[in-house]
Amino acid sequence: MPAPTPLSFDRDIRPLFTGMDIAHMKKSMDLSSRDSVFRHADAIYQSVVSGHMPPASCGEPRWTADMCATFKQWQEQGGAP
Ligand code: HEM
Repeated sequence: MPAPTPLSFDRDIRPLFTGMDIAHMKKSMDLSSRDSVFRHADAIYQSVVSGHMPPASCGEPRWTADMCATFKQWQEQGGAP
């Protein structure tokens, strides 16, 4: 069996974050940067899987189970750019 194509930050992960997400989180991390997202991946995953982020009050829908699983898989694969 051929190895599955690894998930890529630019193709699969970066589009999960909206402009609002990036702008509001800029003080603590850069959600548009692979290195920053990979460094904070555990905290980011916890925040989206729990529904704490993005905050319900900002009007964005919470991440689906698929989005959370894609993010976790990208992290576990080593965070390809
Ligand atoms: C390490 C994980 C994170 C921490 C500790 C964190 C913390 C915070 C805090 C303290 C605020 C301001 C207070 C609030 O509105 O609740 C905030 C706002 C916000 N965060 Fe996060 N955040 C994290 C990850 C994320 C992620 C992954 C997203 C998007 C998927 C996100 C999207 C937002 C948005 C859109 C706001 C603005 C809400 C508004 O002003 O209406 N955050 N975050």
